[in-house]
Amino acid sequence: LKLGVLVSGGGTNLQAVIDSIEQGKTRGEVRVVISSNPEAYALKRAQKYGIPGIYIGRRDFTTREGYEGEMIKVLKGYGVELVLLAGFMTVLSPGFVSEFRNRIMNIHPALIPAFCGKGFYGRRVHEAVLEYGVKVTGATVHFVDEGTDTGPIILQEAVPVLDDDTVDSLAERVLKVEHRLYPEAVRLYSEGRLKIEGRRVRILRG
Ligand code: GRF
Repeated sequence: LKLGVLVSGGGTNLQAVIDSIEQGKTRGEVRVVISSNPEAYALKRAQKYGIPGIYIGRRDFTTREGYEGEMIKVLKGYGVELVLLAGFMTVLSPGFVSEFRNRIMNIHPALIPAFCGKGFYGRRVHEAVLEYGVKVTGATVHFVDEGTDTGPIILQEAVPVLDDDTVDSLAERVLKVEHRLYPEAVRLYSEGRLKIEGRRVRILRG
């Protein structure tokens, strides 16, 4: 399975996917990493494994179509079959999504449909979780559709919110689950075991 990973930051989810491939758990290959941030440490992670790491910045294009068109060209150029958004902080247009219909995944650090949508990303998600006072949060891997964090859900796992949790302690605990969940979703996809039925994703037996 040829993967393209879109990143913006530290790239710990990218690292988790690379690790699962290196360990032989997932039959796949990260063909290219595209970052919306030239300083993203995720690009250094790619470099370490000889994976092409490319900065493509919205500011270098006059239109969003031009920006997304460049990313699509690069992804297709590398024969990418599944696009992973991993800490990618730019909202993609319906045009981009339609180029890779049901072949884009995202990981969100909460139990969608809670604490998701515009404005809910990164630390902000955990701030909102603590502000609200919920006792359980978690992580979600889902297919990307035209909305924000609204596509068919593939995997979820709950994470307890502890009384003395801070944003940092909670983020760290959720991130650990993300690093297990995302590679698992990619593995299932690579084995052809994800069947989308309307809004639901059925996991076929191995
Ligand atoms: C983290 O907040 C993670 O929960 C979300 O994106 C952010 C950065 O992830 N998925 P990464 O370390 O760049 O993969």
